[in-house]
Amino acid sequence: MTFHPLANSADIEEGKGHPFKLDGHRIALVRHKGEIYAIDDLCPHADASMAFGPVENGCIACPWHFAEFRLETGEVLSGPATRDVRSYRVREVEGKVEVCVDLNRQGEPWKSSSEDETST
Ligand code: FES
Repeated sequence: MTFHPLANSADIEEGKGHPFKLDGHRIALVRHKGEIYAIDDLCPHADASMAFGPVENGCIACPWHFAEFRLETGEVLSGPATRDVRSYRVREVEGKVEVCVDLNRQGEPWKSSSEDETST
């Protein structure tokens, strides 16, 4: 996988999510306590944009029905969502936020690689 530039670091405000599209992949960047996290910008419950959810204690809540996910791992912590979202490695290079994404990856964003392979 490769790191892809997605945003200017200065544009990612503390405590807020920001939605981006990268070659068809919907990704939310969230700055929390100074760190930038990247997760799928698509809730596995009913497709809300995760970027607009409230951020607190290392977690982001879906803005529609408030399923909670851990920012660092994408792990679902409370329903109604029952699946994790993907989290991506992030780095900041010369004022840019870069996200490590496999642009060739197909399938539903919240499925693991093994689920994608078995569902075809
Ligand atoms: S759309 Fe996210 S919890 Fe329902």
